[in-house]
Amino acid sequence: MDSDFENRIVTPGYSPEDVDLETSLRPKCLYDYIGQDKVKDNLSVYIEAARNRGECLDHVLLYGPPGLGKTTLAGIIANEMGVNFRVTSGPAIEKPGDLAALLTNLNEGDVLFIDEIHRLRRSVEEVLYPAMEDNALDIIIGKGPSARSIRLDLPKFTLVGATTRAGQLSAPLRDRFGVILRLELYTPDELAKIVTRSAGILDIDVDAQGAREIASRSRGTPRIANRLLKRARDFAQVIGGGVITVDNAKMALEKMEIDPLGLDNIDRLLLMSMIRNYNGGPVGLETIAATIGEEAITIEDVYEPYLLQLGFISKTPRGRVVTPAGFRHMGMEMPGQQSMI
Ligand code: ADE
Repeated sequence: MDSDFENRIVTPGYSPEDVDLETSLRPKCLYDYIGQDKVKDNLSVYIEAARNRGECLDHVLLYGPPGLGKTTLAGIIANEMGVNFRVTSGPAIEKPGDLAALLTNLNEGDVLFIDEIHRLRRSVEEVLYPAMEDNALDIIIGKGPSARSIRLDLPKFTLVGATTRAGQLSAPLRDRFGVILRLELYTPDELAKIVTRSAGILDIDVDAQGAREIASRSRGTPRIANRLLKRARDFAQVIGGGVITVDNAKMALEKMEIDPLGLDNIDRLLLMSMIRNYNGGPVGLETIAATIGEEAITIEDVYEPYLLQLGFISKTPRGRVVTPAGFRHMGMEMPGQQSMI
C-alpha cells in the first residue's frame, strides 16, 4: 500500500519531480501568492510593521495539510523582509549540535525555516527555547559535577516552523511562536488562477475551462494542481491536439482515474470500505487504517482533510461517519434507520 500511496498522482506529498517544478512556480512575493487571503493580510501587516521598526519579524508557525504552500510562504517572508532564507527540517536535525551549528551560522535577521517541526527530537527542541526567546545558545562544558553551562549570543533571527499537525507540537515550543497561522485548502477559483499562472510560466496552452477542470479535481491543493497540469499537458500533446481544453482535461483526468471531484481510487476505497464493511460508520481511524492498509497518520493528514471539506465524511466522538453526500457520491444507498450521530 505504501507504494500505492507513493505512486498516487494526487498525493500532496513531495515527489522528486516536484522539486524543479515547485521552485520555478513558487511566487517570490505576497502580491503573487494566490489564495490564503486572511493569512496574507495579517502577514503583510506584521512584515510591514517589523520592517518599519527595523526589527526582525516575530517567530512564525505555519500549519495545515501538506502541499498548500508553507515552504513558499516562508520563502516569501524572507524575501519581503530582505533577508537570507535557510531551510531545514525536523528529521534532518539529528543532534543538538546540528541545530547549534545552524544557529551560529545565521546572519542577523535571517529566516530559518524548519519544515515538519513536530518531528524535532526533544533534546534538539530544548536548544531552540533559549534561541527563540533570548537569542542565546546554552552550551554545557564538561561532564558530571564539574559540568558548567556557558551562554553564547546568537544573531537575532526569525524562526518559521511548518507542520501538518499543530496538535503534536509541545506546548513550550508552540508558546514561543508570536504568530501562528493556519493554511486552508484552496477554493477551485483560487486553484484555477494558480493553474493559469503556472501554465504561463511553463508555457503550457490551457484555456479557462481546462484550467477550471484541473482546479476542481485538485483536492484544494496547489501542489496537486501543478502536477495534474503537467500530466494533462502530456495527454493534450499526444492525444488531444496540444491545447488543454475542458474536454482534453476531462479525458486526461479520467485516464488518471481521478473522478470529477478529484477523488482517486484510494479515496474511493476508503469510502467504500467504510460503507461496505461498517455500514458507513461510526468507525475508528485505526480500524479504517487496518482495513485499507494505510497508516492512520496518512489517512488523517492526507485523505481526510479533503473528504471532510467535501462533506463526505464527518468526525464524531465514536469515530468517522460517511455522510449522505458521501453515500450519494459513491452511488450507494444509506442504510435504513442508521443514526448519523
Ligand atoms: N504555486 C503554488 N502555490 C501557489 C500560490 N498560492 N500562489 C501562486 N502560485 C502558486
